[in-house]
Amino acid sequence: MSEKEFYIETFENLPALASANNESMREQFARTFYDFLQLSHLYDSAIEVVKTYLNILDSEFSVKFQRNPIHNIESRLKSPQSIIGKLQKKNLPLTPDAARRNLLDIAGIRVTCCYISDIYAIAEMLSNRDDFVIIKQKDYIKTPKQSGYRSYHMIVSVPVYMSQQKSYAPVEIQIRTIAMDFWASLEHQLKYKPSAAITPEISEQLKQCAERIAETDLQMQKIFMEINDLE
Ligand code: GTP
Ligand code: MG
Repeated sequence: MSEKEFYIETFENLPALASANNESMREQFARTFYDFLQLSHLYDSAIEVVKTYLNILDSEFSVKFQRNPIHNIESRLKSPQSIIGKLQKKNLPLTPDAARRNLLDIAGIRVTCCYISDIYAIAEMLSNRDDFVIIKQKDYIKTPKQSGYRSYHMIVSVPVYMSQQKSYAPVEIQIRTIAMDFWASLEHQLKYKPSAAITPEISEQLKQCAERIAETDLQMQKIFMEINDLE
């Protein structure tokens, strides 16, 4: 059994864990499983920490300004199978420790907002927390990707308080407008198509849509501010 198969089996074939007749194999399965379970718990809790903070910010805005800067929050935890797949792609050891050290997107949160100004306000509030450590920030709104992709990306290391210790875990946070999200969902579908099938026309049309969406986002922002200024 290859190392990858071993780890995948640990998760996909748990009944085998209980019934494995080789004692040391059973122990090895159990230990690995427990390590990955702890890792998942830490990252899942880190997601909760960030989500709780975002929800508090959103409700604070609605108390103070009668509006919600956040339209929606989605989150996902990378499955053990895809953690293992990514470690293997990067030629790293297939261990929870290597995952902790090298993968920054095990915990992911996507925040959608109505307006571009909300994106920057939220990014700033995340940066302002003195117990959050910003590991990386990429502004794909100011500098869109070649594809036309726009979003504000942050990797924030957040503290998780547990019964015996405090542990930090990185969370990838993508902040974008509803319109950018609409675009990214369609463009993301290309990832599952054979690259030969993706014609330059499709890429070009998507790029044009991204630009039109960016213009609309700016215009909506402007109108929103004008309406706000009305008596
Ligand atoms: P990954 O190894 O893919 O995580 O990339 P990275 O670590 O260089 O980070 P990057 O900021 O480029 O992308 C992180 C995530 O942003 C991806 O996993 C996607 O969810 C999203 N993303 C980045 N670029 C694109 C894009 O061109 N289109 C879409 N739809 N999503 C994108
Ligand atoms: Mg990623």
